[in-house]
Amino acid sequence: MKKITIAIDGFSSTGKSTLAKQLAKQLSYVYVDTGAMYRAVTWFAMQHNFIDESHFDSKALIAHLQDIKLEFQFNSELGFAEMYLNNENVEMAIRTIEVSNFVSKVAEVSEVRSKLVEQQQQMGKNKAIVMDGRDIGTVVFPDAELKIFMTASADTRAKRRYEELKERGDVVEYELVLKNVVERDYIDTHRADSPLVIAADAIEIDNSNLTREEQFQTVLELVNKTV
Ligand code: C5P
Repeated sequence: MKKITIAIDGFSSTGKSTLAKQLAKQLSYVYVDTGAMYRAVTWFAMQHNFIDESHFDSKALIAHLQDIKLEFQFNSELGFAEMYLNNENVEMAIRTIEVSNFVSKVAEVSEVRSKLVEQQQQMGKNKAIVMDGRDIGTVVFPDAELKIFMTASADTRAKRRYEELKERGDVVEYELVLKNVVERDYIDTHRADSPLVIAADAIEIDNSNLTREEQFQTVLELVNKTV
């Protein structure tokens, strides 16, 4: 069977990563969560006080980009790769609502994007990869053999995110989660560099009313038609 590149893009909390992980496991492909990379850069900016509620010193972040080393390390107990920032496991730290609140601002910075896109392209140069994000089918791998674009209503997505945060013990009001989802959608679709758009050759899946298994089977069928 030929090895392909699978690009999964879409709005926040559409279940892209759950689907991508499941798919990568089934196909024995590498899975890359590019959102984790933008989150790790945001965490770095927060740790260095380059960003908070009242300011964002993007110039300082740009000046320190060469100090950021991002790596994924596979955790065999969990069955997926975790994000490391400068050799430190930041998998938990990057999933908080605080990071979610700032990440889209950081992701607007072109210098950040080009650094991460270059690393993503390197990771995918041998194909056999499932990568999820916002610009995978449009910018990172415009030639990907299979492009999926996931959507769901903002309410459905906020509910999913709220449940995830609750499961991790993060006490957050539902309204705040919804606000974050809506704001991130706005920034992600309106930024100048690589805005979130559906690639012309992407297949759109609205999963508001689909179970995880139904989504998985739908995409698996598409994969089988492509390879
Ligand atoms: O996928 P996740 O919700 O973790 O992504 C966090 C944020 O990172 C997104 O809201 C978006 O601003 C940014 N992002 C991006 N391009 C990607 C992946 C994520 O701009 N390829």
